[in-house]
Amino acid sequence: MRILVTEPLPGKGIDLLSSRYDTTVGERGEFDDEEHLKNEIGSYDALLSCLSNPVTADVLRSAPQLRIVSNYAVGYNNIDIETARELGILVANTPDVLTEATADCAFALLLSVARRLREAEDHLRAGKFDGWHPFGFLGTELHGKKAGILGMGRIGRAFARRARGFGMTVLYHNRNRLDTKTETSLQAQYVESIDQLAEQSDVLSLHCPLNDETRHAVNSERLGRMKPDAIVINTSRGPVIDESALADALHQKQIGGAGLDVFEEEPRVHPSLADAPNCVLLPHIGSATGQTRARMSALAASSIISHLEGKPDHAIPSLVFHR
Ligand code: DGY
Repeated sequence: MRILVTEPLPGKGIDLLSSRYDTTVGERGEFDDEEHLKNEIGSYDALLSCLSNPVTADVLRSAPQLRIVSNYAVGYNNIDIETARELGILVANTPDVLTEATADCAFALLLSVARRLREAEDHLRAGKFDGWHPFGFLGTELHGKKAGILGMGRIGRAFARRARGFGMTVLYHNRNRLDTKTETSLQAQYVESIDQLAEQSDVLSLHCPLNDETRHAVNSERLGRMKPDAIVINTSRGPVIDESALADALHQKQIGGAGLDVFEEEPRVHPSLADAPNCVLLPHIGSATGQTRARMSALAASSIISHLEGKPDHAIPSLVFHR
């Protein structure tokens, strides 16, 4: 059996695969090119892909032996799910194992924007710190504010727990409302629409998957509904925000700030975000802890092994869909 791992990964995932199968590991970024992936995929039984690899319909159709695509990410918008389903190719992702790390990162962004940490540190490093200042870098506090969460899956809920810990009220919108027990345990209030969430929140944190419904969910119209000091946090996928509209809203001081870990056209960052006021930008590091990335590689590899060894679909906890 032949496995393609598109690039080197932390943890034991690759060892797990190569001890059982003929495993090829690509170079960093090598398979970000669709044509290249399409040309190479033909002789493989399984693909361990990264979120930057375009696993398009054309790629899947060029892979007559392929039985599973295991994505080294919880998001799988880089994979043409419909075509995979049509061709009977399973798709797996890495849920659960990255929940806490990603929620930590979203909260770190929030604290950084709310307390202007980046600006303050830049000031100090530029040698401009001339002692304590009554007006120095006045930020805003989170206690008593409303955290609005779009997408109340695992990471959204983990963000909600952090927000409650900081004394915030939690509002959320999700395609499906949570059951009462879960809402009560999270002390989270459901709002009917994204518009209402935008209007009522002091912090809008995005934790939804990228799909046709969520693309540009944060657009100029919704930014216009937000409070003038509201903060937008995005650790989900870049295209959930219309970046150009967000950059305008920041430059015009229509909202208070933004913290972004993901971008519409990674690795490109919209030039007018780079110089926008009170905007913290990170290079897609939401799940980047050693422990989490190791767990992700083990899980991605185990999904492949389970499927190739004939375990039933329900034995693959990370399966995106069931046949
Ligand atoms: C994911 O898993 O979807 C993250 O964005 C990658 O760390």
